[in-house]
Amino acid sequence: MTPELLSALEAVVTHPASASASGAATHRAMHRNRRARIGSMKVGDRHYRSLWADPAPGTVHVIDQARLPHVFETRTIASADAMAEAILAMRVRGAPLIGVAAAFGLALAVLRDPSDASIERAVAMLRATRPTAVNLAWALGRVRDRLARLAPTERAAAAWAEAQMIADEDVALNEAIGRHGLAILEREYKAKRRPVNILTHCNAGWIATVDWGTVTAPIFMAHDRGIPVHVWVDETRPRNQGLLTAWELASHGVPHTLIVDNAGGHLMQRGQVDLVLVGADRVTRRGDVCNKIGTYLKALAARANGVPFYAAVPTPTIDWGIEDAMREIPIEQRAGDEVRIVRGLDPEGRFAEVTIAPSTTTIANPAFDVTPAQLVTALVTEKGVVGASERELAQLKPRPRKATVP
Ligand code: MRU
Repeated sequence: MTPELLSALEAVVTHPASASASGAATHRAMHRNRRARIGSMKVGDRHYRSLWADPAPGTVHVIDQARLPHVFETRTIASADAMAEAILAMRVRGAPLIGVAAAFGLALAVLRDPSDASIERAVAMLRATRPTAVNLAWALGRVRDRLARLAPTERAAAAWAEAQMIADEDVALNEAIGRHGLAILEREYKAKRRPVNILTHCNAGWIATVDWGTVTAPIFMAHDRGIPVHVWVDETRPRNQGLLTAWELASHGVPHTLIVDNAGGHLMQRGQVDLVLVGADRVTRRGDVCNKIGTYLKALAARANGVPFYAAVPTPTIDWGIEDAMREIPIEQRAGDEVRIVRGLDPEGRFAEVTIAPSTTTIANPAFDVTPAQLVTALVTEKGVVGASERELAQLKPRPRKATVP
């Protein structure tokens, strides 16, 4: 990390993740931010968004997901470089959240230098952090388009407002997904009259978005309405995003069980899964769903066992420009050390690493896969539940605002 990056990470606030997490600095920042108090999800007894900005442009706060579920820590980000580092290091992760983070990263760059050249530099740097989730490029395109016809002196305030609007819209999208997904869970409960068993992969919870989560929104709503749900949480090797899902479900009091990634098929064979509900990083206009590696295997097992397979998809996750998912979606290839080295806490509760494969072992680490539309029962979007087909998805296509993908 460069000295500039280090100085840009101005403040770090740490607490045990299980405690009613908050620090004086974090609380002051949040109480200054009216929007942050509207958040729906709680850590301990306090509402949090996964990312929130101070009202005066210049500072963004994020929950450092690289430390969860063991330590709840927030970071203050004050430059585009620091935001790029946070996305690259997966301190912020999840398709919707990295879109919002990138939008604020661009707004931070514009604050320092509103020239066209600076905007293009920041867009290129932020765009390069994570290639697969389309939300990142979509959000950058939207902020850049908003600034294109403005004089440089008007750009900083406009960029900040646009990033904040994208963040607020994300919360509303996920809440709407929650309402539509809730109807599916209600139906399932009415039919079975026992707890609904949902299997999920990766993390599409509230910290993968700004608030609510795409997968967790219907689950939280069902739980809050007294519909009994139980969630099978795939661990999701190698980055273990399932641990974040388990942490979120535990915070909300939702019954859940952590399983290894290979257990899902076995549970489906024994009738212990009523439906699969996953997130998405990019969906083609034909309804193919790109999501965390391992999702495709769950969809195959679901189809073989007659289990419905749903993807929760806010419309910014749909890439209208892509025809052929296999050829056109860039699948992020991550470092082999993510597979070779297991991270966790040692018996004294300190962060520790254990190497499980020798350095001579060749490792492949593709981070996402594509589930073909024909394996997807339906997509749960903020506009309703739609079939995974070009014809059905066409109803969702946005008309008025066209953000370009840089
Ligand atoms: O690599 P990550 O942790 O950023 O990937 C996250 C996922 O794949 C999620 O399932 C996806 O982004 C959906 S988030 C609502």
